Amino acid sequence: MTQQNPRRLHLNAFLMSVGHHEAAWRLPQSDPLAHTDVEHYRNLARIAERGKLDSLFLADSPVQFGDPGRRPSGQLEPTVLLTALAGATSRIGLIATASTSYNEPYNLARRFASLDHVSGGRAGWNIVTTAGADAARNFGLDDSPLHRDRYERAAEFLEVSTRLWDSWADDAIVGDKERGVHAESGRVFATGHAGKYFRVDGPLNVPRSPQGYPLLVQAGSSESGRDFAARYAEAVFTAQQTFEEGKSFYEDLKSRAKALGRDPEGLKILPGIVPAIGATRAEALELEAELERLILPEYAKQQLAALLRVAPEQLELDAELPDDLPTEDEIEGAKSRFTLIVELGRRERLTVRQLIARLGGGRGHRTFAGTPVQVADTIQHWFESGAADGFNIMPPVLPSGLEAFVDQVVPILQERGLFRTDYTGRTLRDHYGLPRPQNQFTTA
Ligand SMILES: Cc1cc2nc3c(=O)[nH]c(=O)nc-3n(C[C@H](O)[C@H](O)[C@H](O)COP(=O)(O)O)c2cc1C
Repeated sequence: MTQQNPRRLHLNAFLMSVGHHEAAWRLPQSDPLAHTDVEHYRNLARIAERGKLDSLFLADSPVQFGDPGRRPSGQLEPTVLLTALAGATSRIGLIATASTSYNEPYNLARRFASLDHVSGGRAGWNIVTTAGADAARNFGLDDSPLHRDRYERAAEFLEVSTRLWDSWADDAIVGDKERGVHAESGRVFATGHAGKYFRVDGPLNVPRSPQGYPLLVQAGSSESGRDFAARYAEAVFTAQQTFEEGKSFYEDLKSRAKALGRDPEGLKILPGIVPAIGATRAEALELEAELERLILPEYAKQQLAALLRVAPEQLELDAELPDDLPTEDEIEGAKSRFTLIVELGRRERLTVRQLIARLGGGRGHRTFAGTPVQVADTIQHWFESGAADGFNIMPPVLPSGLEAFVDQVVPILQERGLFRTDYTGRTLRDHYGLPRPQNQFTTA
């Protein structure tokens, strides 16, 4: 029976090519060219909106990731693609990833303000610092800046960006034809920033956007990542393998936000889940097994070796992880993902082949095979037991996995009173129940 729950679940659709499973493109039904086909993404966006999901999200890195010979890996720039999706939808939020290490605040703030205008207040920014030397080498550097320095730059980047977005008062534009005054110039402010990484005079050349500025999303889980999220993020995506880890991450992040004087409710935490959905559990497991059979083990081993910072020859497919792996403090890339993978391998005593299979579905995100009711049950359990405010849905195969989630799992969550049956607001912040940010220049 329908029961009204005081808290509402938040759901984000993480869209990636023809699915999050690395072998999804090899299934008979998958279109190997879909990852650059705007029609494929329009279809996915409409499916997600049909399910009344809060938002959809595109990951990104300014680098050719992986071996292009082995999987569809080239990808369209997210803010460009989301601009097209804004025209194909009317309510769902649109979250793009962009790097603070390889952009300048003025360009990026302008791009997100524009997306927020074009979409009528539905833009979100997944703020990443970008791990890896490969990306650095596309920007005139020999190696990636240190982890700590990347987060320091990210913090200053955010400070500058919010000043740019606030550089126009909400009421600056008056459009007074009689007086010949388009905007009250006293209501447009210089940004006046000079810091360690940036000097930006401002103002921005885009007036304040419907949401004030895009929803700020973050996805790093290291110490620096958590501190950054606690200070700036309004939503956090995270990879958590077990309920216990998810709960401890949730509690830690909420208490960090509280310690900074923030309302912990103003920061929504969404762990990822890769749901393989079947009419029976056996059917869901068969879908997982089918995908697993299509993994190219030698290629996957190389990818794993790169993540673990070891030579591929150090890993044997049918042996457990070697003892002499680096430790997290030696990792300058994605620290928390490194630790998650090593702990998963060691905790469950997986061989490299088994670990590869577990990572194939979601690169470290929790995979879950089950019926629609079982998927709804696990979501409800995490949500009601203080481990999540919602979920980042990462279908292993697209579009079929998103269709299954929207048409079979969402109705169960709605019936249980956990999820909206229709949109009540217009902006992305409305969907997440978050306030529109005040303008720092006009609120004394
Ligand atoms: C759901 C999710 C999506 C992510 N998307 C991206 C992305 O698009 N680009 C990127 O560079 N990093 C992405 N990351 C990685 C994080 O931004 C971060 O680099 C990683 O979690 C390691 O952070 P840490 O070094 O603070 O632990 C994502 C992480 C998660 C959990």
